[in-house]
Amino acid sequence: MEDNKMEFLTLNNGIKMPLIGFGTFMLNGETCTNAVADAIKTGYRMIDTAQAYGNEKEVGEGIRLSGIDRKDLFLVTKVNFTSYENAEQAVMQSLADLQTDYIDLLLLHWPFANYYAAWRSLESLYQAGRIRAIGVSNFEPDQFLDLIAYNKIVPAVNQIETNLYCQRNTERSWLDKKQVAHMAYAPLGQGNRNEMYAEPAVLALARKYGKTPAQILLRFLTQKHIAVIPRSTKPEHIRENFALFDFSLTDEEMTQLSSLDRKEPLIGKPETPELVEFALTW
Ligand SMILES: NC(=O)c1ccc[n+]([C@@H]2O[C@H](COP(=O)([O-])OP(=O)(O)OC[C@H]3O[C@@H](n4cnc5c(N)ncnc54)[C@H](OP(=O)(O)O)[C@@H]3O)[C@@H](O)[C@H]2O)c1
Repeated sequence: MEDNKMEFLTLNNGIKMPLIGFGTFMLNGETCTNAVADAIKTGYRMIDTAQAYGNEKEVGEGIRLSGIDRKDLFLVTKVNFTSYENAEQAVMQSLADLQTDYIDLLLLHWPFANYYAAWRSLESLYQAGRIRAIGVSNFEPDQFLDLIAYNKIVPAVNQIETNLYCQRNTERSWLDKKQVAHMAYAPLGQGNRNEMYAEPAVLALARKYGKTPAQILLRFLTQKHIAVIPRSTKPEHIRENFALFDFSLTDEEMTQLSSLDRKEPLIGKPETPELVEFALTW
């Protein structure tokens, strides 16, 4: 068995991003603070939050409690689309709430509202050194290609829902063409796709490698150079999800898991009317 040695992706501006991070969607209060501190103590070096999660203060507190040196952490947050017209001010608030003076990766959360204005604010903050990399989330290929065509900086990352049943191969080929890194949210299906854990191929690989189904599902993605940010409030899951780099799936096993793609997002395509209606009431 190999050591569980962290793997990284090199972004299109040369900075290194861990392949595994800790997700904080729906984590609030002390649960959030303790989970973030626990994740950092476990070894996670990337934390993903967002203005829309309303937990940046708790995430900042968890980081402080962990005692980690800020420079050893890769901090990701997202500007909410309701702040796209005043993104710079919103980013300053994130910095204060997170108790830091820079963000490693700042994303535009959704391709709604005036995201061109917000992108230009992120470009200025990047050039001023307040952000080490800028990127997008939930952008379809046509949307990020258009953003690239009419702006200066190519996004470093697109964070999109990606898991066994929603593998995003078409989207990935466009990301690769523009050297945009792929980050998977809901890599474990948000707890709403538990049939993934019971797939016979996943169970057989879990038995073969002495791993859990969740570890097989996450390893499958990281082995495709997709960064993953699983969320958990359970210490045993936080540890389990981090132990991904001491085994490798064979090419044949990767192909077998690839064949289970259903191309089915849980959260929907951003342009679906239901999602836009939901966003307008947010
Ligand atoms: N950009 C966006 O629009 C967007 C949207 C959604 C999410 N995200 C980001 O992506 C992160 C991850 O996505 P997510 O939180 O939606 O879902 P997820 O990480 O796919 O799934 C979380 C669920 O999986 C369970 N779980 C975690 N580890 C497990 C394990 N080893 N075995 C069994 N169950 C396990 C958790 O329950 P327990 O707590 O019981 O372990 C929780 O119910 C978020 O936290 C957030 O940071 C971004």
